Formats: sequence, C-alpha cells, structure tokens
Amino acid sequence: MRMYDIIKKKRDGGELSTGEIDFFIRGVTDGSIPDYQITALLMAIYYRGMTVRETCDLTFAVRDSGEKLDFSAIDGIRVDKHSTGGVGDKTSLVVAPIVASFGVKVAKMSGRGLGHTGGTVDKLEAIDGFRTTLSEEEFIAQVNRIGLAIVGQSRQFAPADKKLYALRDVTATVDSMPLIAASIMGKKLAADDDCIVLDVKTGSGSFMKTVEESRELARLMVDIGKNAGKKMVALITNMDRPLGNAIGNSLEVIEAVETLKGRGPEDLTEVCLTLAGHMLSLAGKGTPEECERLAARSIADGSALGKLAQAVEAQGGNAALIEGGAKFAEAKYSRAVKSEKSGYIVRTDAEAYGLASLALGAGRNTAEDTIDFAAGILLKKKTGDRVEKGEEIATLFTNRDEAFASASQILTAATEIGSEPPVRGPLVYETVQ
Ligand code: URA
Repeated sequence: MRMYDIIKKKRDGGELSTGEIDFFIRGVTDGSIPDYQITALLMAIYYRGMTVRETCDLTFAVRDSGEKLDFSAIDGIRVDKHSTGGVGDKTSLVVAPIVASFGVKVAKMSGRGLGHTGGTVDKLEAIDGFRTTLSEEEFIAQVNRIGLAIVGQSRQFAPADKKLYALRDVTATVDSMPLIAASIMGKKLAADDDCIVLDVKTGSGSFMKTVEESRELARLMVDIGKNAGKKMVALITNMDRPLGNAIGNSLEVIEAVETLKGRGPEDLTEVCLTLAGHMLSLAGKGTPEECERLAARSIADGSALGKLAQAVEAQGGNAALIEGGAKFAEAKYSRAVKSEKSGYIVRTDAEAYGLASLALGAGRNTAEDTIDFAAGILLKKKTGDRVEKGEEIATLFTNRDEAFASASQILTAATEIGSEPPVRGPLVYETVQ
C-alpha cells in the first residue's frame, strides 16, 4: 500500500477502505508517514469529506493507536458525559455526583483547559489537596467503593489524535466534521464506558457556531458510538452565552457546589438536570423525564452534594470546601466592570468572555502555562437582562493587578447593549439519539 495512492483516491472523491485508513493511522502513530503526506490527506478529507463508515473506521483506528482502559473490574453500569467545550461549563462537577448518587458508576477522565475554554481537571485542582492522578487500581477501587472518581488523562490515549490535531491546527483543517468526530470519539472510546451522553455546544463560545452544524456533528458522534456498541445520546446546548455566572476555576467549583445545594443559577441547573436525566435514563433508571425528576430529588435531599464531598475526600481534597466550613483562597484584587449605557444586554460573546478570563490568569495560552485558580469573572448581568448606565455587569478577580485593563476592555466589547430585549434561544435545542 502506498500513501500516494490513498491521497489520490481521496483527492478524487473516492471512499477509503478500512485497510487504507488503518494503514494511514498506523503510519501516523509510528512516524513512518511524513507530515507532508499526512497533511495532504487531511486536506483531501477536509474537501471531500468521509462517509459514516469511513469516519467510524478512522475513529476506531485512532482509538486503537494507544492504550485503552479496561473497566471490567467495575461493578455496575458505567456512564460518562462529554462536552465539546465551552465557557463557564462546570456541568461535570454537578452531573457526575448526581448520577453516582443513584449507584450508577462514573469513572471519569477529564481534560485540561486551553485557550478560551476551561477544563474539569483544572477546576478540581482548585480544591486544596485534590489529586487528579490515581493509579488504575486506586481509580477502579474508588469507583467501586463510592461510585465516582474523576482524574486527568495521564496515559497515552489515542496518540494518533495528538499528532493529527497538531497538524490540523497549523494547516487550517481543524473544522472538518469527520476529523472532529474521529478526534473526540477516538479519545472517548479509549475509555470503557457502557453509555455516553454528549453535550454538543453550539454558539459563539463553541466549535460549532450554528445549530445545523452541531446537529450534524452530534448525529455523526452518536452513530460512531453506537457502532462501537455504546448506548448514546447527544444534547445540543446553547453556548452563545457563558453557562451560569462564574468563569474561572475556584469560582466555578463554588458555583457547582451552590447548584448541588439547590441554589445554582437557573440556566446551569436546567442544563445539568437535563444531562443527568439522560445519563440516568441510559443507565436504565427510567425515562429521561422521570430521571430528571430523580436528579432534582438528589439535589433537594443533599445526596448529590454528599457524593461530591465523598469523592473529593477520597482523592485527598479538602471536603470542607464542598460541605462548608472552609473557603477557597480569594484573589488579591477585584474590580467591577460597569455598563457604559442603559438598555438590555442583547448579545454576549461567550468566547470573548473566556478570553477575558484567560487574560485575568484563569486559563492557559499554551499547555505549559500555570493557572491562577482564584482568577476569573462573576457575571452580574446576562443576555436579556436590563442594565442602567454605571451599573455593574461583572466583577473581575485576579492576583495580577495589571491584568484588569485588557480583561475589562475585552468584556465590555463582548457585551452588546441595545434598546429592546432580545429573543433568547433555548438552553437545550434538541436531543439526538
Ligand atoms: N475537540 C477535540 O478533541 N478534537 C477536535 O478535533 C475538536 C475538538
């Protein structure tokens, strides 16, 4: 087999065979195919697309390019949730303990944030003492004991994706539907879950800017997962505005805890209950509607909060930060951003809000950057709210006083104020199954 022929076939609109896709991914992984041929094929895929069969083959080859987890030692049904990434998205911290409080197992591996989006592992590391690295034995034992463990990806999952993503990033081939689906699902399927709920974000703060694109990506990823024998459902949720009011690591943990105490912002609570409802439903606990009510009950009776505290304690974290009695370290400086005019907030650019938080120190520009856990933004006003000139729209937090100027400039430019209240889109657009 020759890479030249594979590139030519796809360039001319042909359908690659399973063998050709396996040959390509093996060569990407062992370094035998040079970057110029890899990127030539990526560009051909970008223009010509892939069938569902080709995309499944690509995903499975990416999954099989590295280590895979074996969760057969975990007792019971294992459910995971994966978000395509957003701003202020702390849903994992809320839904994982809700689901685990019903005896459904959540063995979660999460990522770190990069650029304008945050990552669950960074948020957890804001909790004093919390260990995001556990041995496989510790991880499995914890899931069996309390139903929930959340760790970072310390192992070499899907190394082919790492190489492909780095090349896509510099050759303008990131936004290709089959390449995105194979990248996300190749990594996801390296874990050993029975059921997966995908949260496909749509809007300014996400990869997919329109509902149509999000629907297409959701359909493709659900089909790939089903082909791999998983129970799947995808929700398309709104990322035109940040989710909840907090952006930044410890601020988001505090908000997640408030949500588990029944005092969370309405939008975050609604998205979390819908996600948790679908996770419990896939695990056989009832219809999504019944399970949403169960999820609400686990918040009302404190069992979900108790489950998070148990997991935090088991992973060495200070559980008093979750249950009360201790407080997160606060940022040295805070400053209000005030509205320059009166009216209604008609649009907030979620991506720019993420970038403002990054400027305050809450995120990373490169994988090596360190994070200021106390940095971030608390929103006082959101899309649809009325504001008066001089009224506070957000409070910024940082340990670097000099960061305020650019963060408040970005935030002000990203908040459009008009004279009429906007029509607000739904929080959950649709379900794809
Ligand atoms: N997230 C991924 O992991 N891969 C992509 O290609 C896009 C988003």
